Amino acid sequence: MVRINVNGEERQLDVSDDMPLLWVLRDELNMTGTKFGCGIAQCGACTVHVDGAPTRACQTPVGMLTPDSKVTTIEGVKGKAAQAVQAAWQKLDVVQCGYCQSGQIMSAIALLTDNQNPTDQDIDAAMDGNVCRCATYVRIRAAIKDAAQTMRA
Ligand code: FES
Ligand code: FES
Repeated sequence: MVRINVNGEERQLDVSDDMPLLWVLRDELNMTGTKFGCGIAQCGACTVHVDGAPTRACQTPVGMLTPDSKVTTIEGVKGKAAQAVQAAWQKLDVVQCGYCQSGQIMSAIALLTDNQNPTDQDIDAAMDGNVCRCATYVRIRAAIKDAAQTMRA
C-alpha cells in the first residue's frame, strides 16, 4: 500500500513501490493531463511538481515519495504564477498540437514561482528539458515573459 498526496488530497493505492508516478497518476488516479512521451526523463511531457519542484513523473518511483510529499499535477495547479501562465498561454496562443504543453506549463510555473523576472538564460535553463515536436519555443518564451510581467504588475 502506498500513500501519497496529490493536488492536496491524500490517496492510498494498492501499487508496488517501483511503479512510476506517471502510471499512478494516469492509470490509477485517472489524471491524464500529465503525458507520457519518452519514458526516460528526456522530453519533459510528464513534468509534475513535487514540493514545488519540476519533476519527471516517468522516472519517479512512487515509493520514493512520502505521504508528506506534495504532488501537484496540471489538474491541480493554482496560485499567482499558475494564473499568469495560463492567461499568457491563451493570450499568445502558444499551443499547437498540445501534447507537450502540460509539461511546459508546469516547468514555466515552477520557474516563475521562484523568479518573477527571468532572463533569456534563466528561461532556457528552466525549460531546457521540455521538448516540443511542434517547435513552439518562441511563443513559450514570449508567454513566460508576458506572465512574468503580469506577476510583477
Ligand atoms: S515521459 Fe517523462 S521525460 Fe519524457
Ligand atoms: S505543441 Fe505539439 S509537441 Fe509541443
